[in-house]
Amino acid sequence: MLDEPASPSEIEASSIFSPELYAGVRRPLAEAETMPPWCYTSTAFYRREVERIFTKVWNFIGREDRIPKPGDYFTLEFVGIPILVVRSSATELRAFANTCRHRGSLVAQGEGNCRAFRCPYHSWAYSLSGELLSAPEMHASAGFDRKNYGLIPLRLECWAGFLFINFDDDAPPLSHHLGDLPEVLASHRVEDMVCVRRKEYDLACNWKIYVENAMEAYHVPTVHRSTLQRQKGAPPEAQQTRGQWVGLFKEHQGSRALLTGDAGFPPIKSLDGKMARGSLYPLIYPSTMFGCTIDCMWWLELHPQGPDRTHLVVGSCFPREVVERPDFAEIVQNYYKRWDISIPEDNAVSELQQRGLSSPFARPGRLAHMEPLVHAIDNWVLDRVLGVTGAY
Ligand code: FES
Ligand SMILES: [Fe+2]
Repeated sequence: MLDEPASPSEIEASSIFSPELYAGVRRPLAEAETMPPWCYTSTAFYRREVERIFTKVWNFIGREDRIPKPGDYFTLEFVGIPILVVRSSATELRAFANTCRHRGSLVAQGEGNCRAFRCPYHSWAYSLSGELLSAPEMHASAGFDRKNYGLIPLRLECWAGFLFINFDDDAPPLSHHLGDLPEVLASHRVEDMVCVRRKEYDLACNWKIYVENAMEAYHVPTVHRSTLQRQKGAPPEAQQTRGQWVGLFKEHQGSRALLTGDAGFPPIKSLDGKMARGSLYPLIYPSTMFGCTIDCMWWLELHPQGPDRTHLVVGSCFPREVVERPDFAEIVQNYYKRWDISIPEDNAVSELQQRGLSSPFARPGRLAHMEPLVHAIDNWVLDRVLGVTGAY
């Protein structure tokens, strides 16, 4: 027999947004429960996250060096919204809603280089800056003025080569969202790094499952027992932060982007203080994780696609002078090996968790002392999903 709490369908039928349902998550860590299972499975909960979180905050969408030349573009879909990002000139990047102003087709797909975007449906053509350049046969449409039918621009900002979009014209600037993260990472010189590989995965799990996993080391001895667990070092500690991010710092020897015993590159010369002694793993809320270690950085970029679907992009960045070494292509394989083993380990366990949580017998659990950021993340989400205000 099922006892409290009610099953997701019963809960949805009443209200899943009553704060009392989340009292267990709101308690201090030592007494706290995990999020109720429906937070990872319910369409209504997911829609509320899209409305109150993802369409209000700065969302990471990759590196600027993906589109180095004027006319280079890429497209993506973020929480169901098709987006087009283009380098409109040597110094300017733009983002648009990838929706034609005639009858709404996608204007561009995939990625590439072009001088203008021609809609595949009736050939309305848009400049790289989004103006409608030509619209065949529209001369008989009374009062039609091309000037009023450019692509809809979206806010796009860049920090140190990392691109972020925002769907909300009223949101504060990106610097407000990032807080002290640029300062904390200053000695990594991420602006001088080059993205050398992007790898994509489709995951059958809720985005929060993946974020929570990345921000706790409790699972490492189990999930990564024959890989990352062999790396020695102190237990990770949660960082003090300012801005919309949290982080774990781990002190250790060597690079955390390599498996024990593998050859790597020298440390980043400019690293100083604490950053020279270990690795920082920031989560930029809501769903972007960085791994900043002593010789490189990688990111985990999540595109939520529904309550139980998430697209993952993993990017790997190294200092430009390292990428220019003659032995780069050979040695970087050791780093790729580490990511290509450990990331699928996390992917697999995240999908197992989604399956277990989808059961009508799933119940809120309890958190260990090693999961302070799981608790912080869940409360950050609840503040917005249950709160009356927007994300900031
Ligand atoms: S929908 Fe784009 S030109 Fe018709
Ligand atoms: Fe992991």
